[in-house]
Amino acid sequence: MTEFTMDDLMFKPGLMKGQRILITGGGTGLGKVMAEACVMLGADVYIWGRRGNVIEATAKELTDAHSANGGGRCIGMACDIRVPEAIHEAMDQVWAGGALTGLVNNAAGNFISRTEDLSPRAFDAIANIVFRGSFFVTLDAGKRWLAEGRHASVISILTTWVWHGGPFTVPSAMSKAGLNVMTQSLAVEWGGRGIRFNAIAPGPFPTEGAWARLNPGSTEAIGEAPPPSDPTIPLGRNGEMRELANMAVYLLDPGSAYINGQTIAIDGGGHLKGGGGFARLSEWGDAEWEQARNAIRGANEKDRAQRTV
Ligand code: HXC
Ligand code: NAP
Repeated sequence: MTEFTMDDLMFKPGLMKGQRILITGGGTGLGKVMAEACVMLGADVYIWGRRGNVIEATAKELTDAHSANGGGRCIGMACDIRVPEAIHEAMDQVWAGGALTGLVNNAAGNFISRTEDLSPRAFDAIANIVFRGSFFVTLDAGKRWLAEGRHASVISILTTWVWHGGPFTVPSAMSKAGLNVMTQSLAVEWGGRGIRFNAIAPGPFPTEGAWARLNPGSTEAIGEAPPPSDPTIPLGRNGEMRELANMAVYLLDPGSAYINGQTIAIDGGGHLKGGGGFARLSEWGDAEWEQARNAIRGANEKDRAQRTV
């Protein structure tokens, strides 16, 4: 089912007509939500992911729901952003329909683990998606924009851990911090040539992908708010999808053209109160970690079985 109505968005219908946006990892979770908002507002949106069936189903769902009502189209493509050649080939197909006007680096992998329990392959499993993959997508699109003299907006979905570290999620925190610096660096290097870079650092927005790997075995249903007394989030609740979608549309649209090189938290103020991370897991012992590892591996296997690239 689709997530929104126009009443959830802050913008006028047709705002993004003529825009062409690529959202990596757009088949699920936050990527899907951002894709839906852009499609509703008239943009044509490309979504990439490794599970072809998931990508196709989302693309069809969003196009069917919105294109007849003034929305754009959503086009799904199976692409693994860990593979530079696959990125290049998929980008050729995107560009065949016209240049992109925006890119959202949203695809990610993550799981909680004691750092001493990680192998080199475990580090690579995350860094190859988040750190290297996001850079390769940005580079491939960037070369095309620069060669053609085009304007574009790039946003990367980070976490607030880029400012205060991410205990028990170190490969993710390190990789997201790298993208934070990429955002700042390219804002300067390419900003004068029309390509601006910003990032969003969300607090908790319950999604299946994140909760299975960061909150494994939790009895809290996806979408259920934490108790209002949750001490780590001043606003006492998780984020709402429409709030994230509104922020993404704002940064993608030329209406925000003077914002460049910024990373904006959308976390109810959680990071200012020392929240949003997993420091509390210091209390866990071997038994809790083994249980978490088994639950996470189950989720990973389920997803891996559906990959088509
Ligand atoms: C320790 C683990 C582990 C665990 C896997 N590994 N799970 N090590 N603890 N819980 C190790 C494996 O043993 C293996 O190393 C290596 O990692 C690779 O495992 P694979 O299962 O083969 O990896 P792969 O199939 O490449 O899958 C990548 C993945 C997976 C990152 C592990 O989770 C994935 O594809 N995720 C995509 C979706 C996702 O993660 N979404 C959540 C984003 S949420 P060895 O050495 O044993 O071979 C997010 C939110 C942040 O980022 C903010 C929240 C507030
Ligand atoms: P999600 O639903 O698991 O989204 C991750 C997406 O990335 C999936 O659609 C996945 O699809 C795709 N992906 C992973 N590896 C890929 C690869 N190699 N190539 C192409 N696509 C790949 O989780 P989410 O919660 O929506 O997370 C979305 C983004 O928000 C991530 O960057 C995450 O770090 C960030 N974030 C989330 C939260 C939160 O609370 N949910 C908080 C802070 C930041 P496939 O597996 O099919 O490839």
